[in-house]
Amino acid sequence: MTEHDWRALNRANWDERVAVHLGASGYDLAALRSGTGRLDAIVKAELGAVAGLRVIHLQCHIGSDTLTLAQQGAADIVGVDFSPAAIVAARILAADLNLSNARFVLSDIYESPAAVAEPPGSFDLAFATWGTIGWLPDVYAWARVAAHFARRGGALYFAEGHPSAFVFDDLAGAPDTEGRPAWFTPYFDPAPLVVEDASDYADASAHLTNSRTVQWMHPLSEILDALQAAGWRLEWLHEHPRITWRMFRSLVQDADGLWTWPTRSWLPLGVSLRAVRE
Ligand SMILES: C[S@@+](CC[C@H](N)C(=O)[O-])C[C@H]1O[C@@H](n2cnc3c(N)ncnc32)[C@H](O)[C@@H]1O
Repeated sequence: MTEHDWRALNRANWDERVAVHLGASGYDLAALRSGTGRLDAIVKAELGAVAGLRVIHLQCHIGSDTLTLAQQGAADIVGVDFSPAAIVAARILAADLNLSNARFVLSDIYESPAAVAEPPGSFDLAFATWGTIGWLPDVYAWARVAAHFARRGGALYFAEGHPSAFVFDDLAGAPDTEGRPAWFTPYFDPAPLVVEDASDYADASAHLTNSRTVQWMHPLSEILDALQAAGWRLEWLHEHPRITWRMFRSLVQDADGLWTWPTRSWLPLGVSLRAVRE
């Protein structure tokens, strides 16, 4: 699997998803469009105020969270993504909403320090949530990119699917009678995982043509080691029995609109952390 191969496969998949997410059954942008964009309940509870901060948003997709943070008063926010369709959509949305404090840069995440073209340490906060490092082979290089952008004393807020939950997937079979999903891939396997999946997490009716992607498992210990090696000091880490997307068919929606276990919390579904740039 060459670098060219995985990038091309993943980019085609994400480009196609943009149209799905902008469609009637995709992302709900109504609140954002009315000027009151909302963060999911986990990020809302943990992130803290962003007013006056310079923020870099890694893998911003169509910019919905980027623009929500812009509406919440970020002084300046830069979203980075490698999908041309996502960046076009994000720029149109920013223009529609008249949010001149947000800008969007088309770049692979590993090349983003050059593409964003700001001096090292220009940002108060690096923000990366829900579906980022699983698309990347090297979490150490990713942590260095985030550290490049943050000033000394600046923060990283990171929220992601929990690596132990990624061991399981409905692609491997149906959940059992207790709602426990099927075993899918070993926790410690560093090899690229080639996945055939035509479905989309936001629109259950979608059938993607670019259905082959390449993903990677990153154990929790590897994420923490990568952050430390890049000069991040962990402030806290939380594990969550709920998540922003329907990770498994058996999950049910809670009062906050997050997806959680139907009866017992067998595994953490999400993990979030805050780290500070030493
Ligand atoms: C699951 S989405 C992120 C979702 C985002 N948190 C949201 O709520 O909309 C993952 C994003 O990562 C981007 N991406 C994947 N691999 C990338 C790479 N190598 N460089 C930059 N962006 C990448 C995709 O284009 C996609 O927009």
